[in-house]
Amino acid sequence: MKKREVHIVGNWKMNQSLYEISQFFIEMSKMKMELKCKAWIAPQAIHIPILKEMAFTTGAIYIGAQNCSNQDSGALTGETSPASLADLGVEFVIIGHSERRTIFGEGNELLNEKVLAALKNNLKVIYCVGETLAERESDQTYKVIDEQLLVGLKNLPADKAHLLMIAYEPVWAIGTGKVASAEQAEEVHGYIRSKLTHRASETIILYGGSVKPDNIDALLRKENIDGALVGGASLKAQDFRQLCSIASVLM
Ligand code: PGA
Repeated sequence: MKKREVHIVGNWKMNQSLYEISQFFIEMSKMKMELKCKAWIAPQAIHIPILKEMAFTTGAIYIGAQNCSNQDSGALTGETSPASLADLGVEFVIIGHSERRTIFGEGNELLNEKVLAALKNNLKVIYCVGETLAERESDQTYKVIDEQLLVGLKNLPADKAHLLMIAYEPVWAIGTGKVASAEQAEEVHGYIRSKLTHRASETIILYGGSVKPDNIDALLRKENIDGALVGGASLKAQDFRQLCSIASVLM
């Protein structure tokens, strides 16, 4: 029995056609009764309204965004406003995913502005942290994570802390098939929890990086791992269903 609710979050990144989405939901609807964990999906922003509708009919799946702007409105061509996400009834937003950090050059200061903007709009935030392989190999893991937490979560309002979730995603494990061992992940999760200044024992901390049906059980059995942020394996309904079923057993 887990101390905290277990969350399985699918990060679809820039994938899934409309046809694939409808097939996904047909499959998912078959497991409605078994779902005891929380199942979340972050599709491409353009698909959010469609997924909201499908999730409404299948039930029990929360829909979120993969990113948002640090501003509610303005001359920011191509950005997605957190206020508009809230308007759409979006439940959460992922902020600071390593692809945003590395490919789009988003640093901790900007990510902090995004976290605060999303929280102001009462969106749940999944704030991602994690080290690269070079950083791990040069013993920089905790230094990097300290900085990501300290700057990225600066000025976090205490009355919004219940909306914050953390995802520990070692960059070397994302999309590589190299999952961190349950022990490696637990060690970092415990460290992250010890650094949280608000609601540390209640905060959901997800693990992400090559999570699959065959490795999730060992991860979720660890005390400080409260779920998974899943890329590749969340695209296939059967895998996603299986991840949710395994997580549901632990609840
Ligand atoms: P992966 O991606 O499960 O494909 O490794 C995880 C993520 O990027 O959030």
